[in-house]
Amino acid sequence: MIFTPTQERTKDLEIRLLEKKYHDFSARLGIKPEKIAWTKYFLSNMKAKDKELCRHSLIVGIYVERAVISLGLNPEEEYPYGVLHDTGKIGLPSNLPYQGRLNAEDWWLMRQHPFIGYLTLKPVFPGEAKRALQHQTQQFKRYPTDVSDSVDLFTEALSVIDSVEAMSSRANGRYVKEGALPSMDQIRDILLEEKPKKLGWIIKELYDAGVFRPIVFQSGYNPV
Ligand SMILES: [Fe+2]
Ligand SMILES: [Fe+2]
Repeated sequence: MIFTPTQERTKDLEIRLLEKKYHDFSARLGIKPEKIAWTKYFLSNMKAKDKELCRHSLIVGIYVERAVISLGLNPEEEYPYGVLHDTGKIGLPSNLPYQGRLNAEDWWLMRQHPFIGYLTLKPVFPGEAKRALQHQTQQFKRYPTDVSDSVDLFTEALSVIDSVEAMSSRANGRYVKEGALPSMDQIRDILLEEKPKKLGWIIKELYDAGVFRPIVFQSGYNPV
């Protein structure tokens, strides 16, 4: 993706504010410093690869942290909670469009990112590696299909959150109508209609818990 200089500065500021918010949250939870350091390492690689990928990952991470609180999961066991779910995209070719229409070859490559993420994260974050392998849904179907059987509640919630973030921010997504992104309420209705019925309660729980409320920064700058 190519940005104009002004867009570039806005994007940089947004990512810095998101990074600060995410890492402040981790520090407040008393996460071990080495886990935070590894998370920063992977995120910095994402930022170098594609700023939009980094922005998406941080917002998913913040939504997932909110969900962790509402679902009552153990922070230490689950950390870093999904912010690294797309780590495998670091290993994709640089000219592969992160957003937009993919041709057949691009699409084959894109489908490898769960495997690449799994292999990359496994030595440091075994739990996150498994989520990276299982997180991906495309038009509400999980791929690779052979990992679908043993998806836990946390990964189901992560997949819903991943979908919401993508649908609410991708200007070329299939839910954009007359140039306008769908609202969070419209996204909820689409998900309840199109996701498997068994996920309805997770979608409602995440929305009712306010997981998708705007991300507000202390400076008052609110890019989301
Ligand atoms: Fe993904
Ligand atoms: Fe994602």
